[in-house]
Amino acid sequence: MKKILVATDKPFAKVASDQIKAIFAKANYNCVFLEKYTQQSDFILAVEDVDAVIIRSDKVDKDVIENGRNLKIVVRAGAGYDNVDLAAATEKGVVVMNTPGQNSNAVAELVFGMVVFQLRNHFDGSSGTELKDKKLGIHAYGNVGKNVARIAKGFGMQVFAFDPFVSKQEIEKDGVTVVESVEELYKTCQFVSLHIPATAQTKKSINHQLLSSMPSNAVLINTARKEVINEEDLKQIFAERKDFCYVSDIQPDCAAELTEYSKRLFFSPKKMGAQTEEANINAGIAAANQIIAFFENNDIRFKVN
Ligand code: 3PG
Repeated sequence: MKKILVATDKPFAKVASDQIKAIFAKANYNCVFLEKYTQQSDFILAVEDVDAVIIRSDKVDKDVIENGRNLKIVVRAGAGYDNVDLAAATEKGVVVMNTPGQNSNAVAELVFGMVVFQLRNHFDGSSGTELKDKKLGIHAYGNVGKNVARIAKGFGMQVFAFDPFVSKQEIEKDGVTVVESVEELYKTCQFVSLHIPATAQTKKSINHQLLSSMPSNAVLINTARKEVINEEDLKQIFAERKDFCYVSDIQPDCAAELTEYSKRLFFSPKKMGAQTEEANINAGIAAANQIIAFFENNDIRFKVN
């Protein structure tokens, strides 16, 4: 009997876990959960005798891969897989997959939830500002970026995007204006929403040059990864621009140094964008089905390594 580990430091909603359990029970697989663990060593130990692992932002490092004696597949229930050591997995012949698109609506909705809350001064009774007719730049037009564009149009925003990996026609058919460079996006748009993955090229790439070029009352929204921000530059921008605002679904590492500024919004040290029942169900079910399809039919459609 195949043994599957669901290792989630930030657990799925119960309704999603129940559905994952039911899918594996029907396939006659043994499914065990490791939730809210505090030590990486707990994960390393739990992986010892399992055939497959489902994770979220959990760290699959070399030790996890090496200790998984029977491990054949890791499925990241979500989009970004920067938390997985792909080289170590590939070296050991472990397949890594993600579940693209399954949690993107949740993230896109939170972009606007956070922005409206911030623009209305956290509902403190004072007058805020609106989104209608304002310019929004979407930095990377993947599944989340596309959903952000859809919702932004409902708010009556002017939507721009930059993504060198998506064709101009693909973006324009959503009624979004394509800009030719990242510099142009930041220079044009009062609001910029980040949706780039964290890679060697993108880490710390959101820097002083880009942020200082944004129009007045600039708002940077980050539901991508905190690592893509150059935090030294972020601190400098806050010091230089009284009108600059940073909104994110995860605290930056320098959060404690930004407490004197009011134009900022972030709550949790854990990423919250995809934390809805619907996203948990979509991504969790997709992950479970992808594991079964892999073992039963050798289906490697969502392989990323
Ligand atoms: C993703 O990459 O899918 C999102 O950042 C969600 O991450 P999470 O599963 O840890 O909430």
